[in-house]
Amino acid sequence: MKAAVLGAYGAVGRRLAVEAATLGHAVTAVGRDGTRLSGVPAHDHLRLSMTDLAGVRRMAAAHDVVVNATGVEDSQLALASTEGGAAFMDISAERDYLGELSRLAPARPIAAGIGLAPGLTNLLAVAASGEGPLHIGIVAGIGEPHGDAARAWVWSVSGRQVTSGGTKQRVYRTARRFDVPGLGRRTLLRAGFGEQDQLATSLDRPVSTWLGFDPAWATALLAVAGIAPGAAAYLDRLSGPAATLLAQRDRWTVVVSDATSTRAWATGRREVDATATVAALCLERLATAPPGVYAADELARLDDLREGLSRAGIEVATNPSITENWKDPR
Ligand SMILES: NC(=O)c1ccc[n+]([C@@H]2O[C@H](COP(=O)([O-])OP(=O)(O)OC[C@H]3O[C@@H](n4cnc5c(N)ncnc54)[C@H](OP(=O)(O)O)[C@@H]3O)[C@@H](O)[C@H]2O)c1
Repeated sequence: MKAAVLGAYGAVGRRLAVEAATLGHAVTAVGRDGTRLSGVPAHDHLRLSMTDLAGVRRMAAAHDVVVNATGVEDSQLALASTEGGAAFMDISAERDYLGELSRLAPARPIAAGIGLAPGLTNLLAVAASGEGPLHIGIVAGIGEPHGDAARAWVWSVSGRQVTSGGTKQRVYRTARRFDVPGLGRRTLLRAGFGEQDQLATSLDRPVSTWLGFDPAWATALLAVAGIAPGAAAYLDRLSGPAATLLAQRDRWTVVVSDATSTRAWATGRREVDATATVAALCLERLATAPPGVYAADELARLDDLREGLSRAGIEVATNPSITENWKDPR
């Protein structure tokens, strides 16, 4: 397949270009800076800004699938790509934008929110049994250089109002305890990742998302941003030095819990790599799907991706008893 990766020299985009090529796809690296673009290993390179929608349409006409890894959250980009004739995948986690995509009636398939969270978390939630409210906990290692767009989003949602099962909460202001394999009991803060709305619809049960950092003390920075969203930009400036100082703390873990226990979890190193892995593994499914807008859980099942996830060093469990036996490999 011919796959165009938009934002190809970004944190996820660069990795995605490599992962898609490994799966046998001919990748075109797309971006607006020719010099940085030429450093991305790819079959082809195309200089293009996402604001040039006519250019996006022309580019899409020459590809089977277009992946947006720019963090530019504009549904016109999805429409231009699908009108051009390509399937469109967005890795964004932003719930308003994913909601906007879900209301489109595209000529070609669109995948909304394919990565680690949303993405793999959707598949874990579907695989988790039980009923009643579902809580998705995400623990991100801060010893990983995250991309600017991802970091900006995490801080920008501080203090925003979110609703789940009729309960209104503000992002990073409410805490909940989770059993996190390898880390023990962890306090995570209410977050606003896009899968909570997608899953509430597809599973017909309240779904909420929660975020924390590893090491645990760093979660306090999110709590500060929740109370004082104006401080978020200053707190973000600590990210670079923290990633350098704690370079070994790059393990992420996501858990899906109900009222009583952890129902499913996954863990691996470098969240950027996991996002690229999941997106790459879903490319072919998307390109061959009928027109429509798909969340990750509507595109694939956990079992479909297990082999690819395992190859990428991502451990997945849906049996709670495994949780008790899990040993931290660090
Ligand atoms: N689902 C998940 O699990 C998950 C995980 C991680 C990230 N994400 C999401 O993935 C997206 C990318 O994140 P990231 O951290 O990889 O971003 P990043 O490192 O900041 O990379 C974004 C890239 O897009 C390019 N770009 C921005 N605006 C552009 C435009 N108008 N035209 C062309 N290129 C443009 C930037 O290039 P310039 O330098 O030229 O501006 C940059 O190279 C974000 O939406 C993030 O929230 C999702």
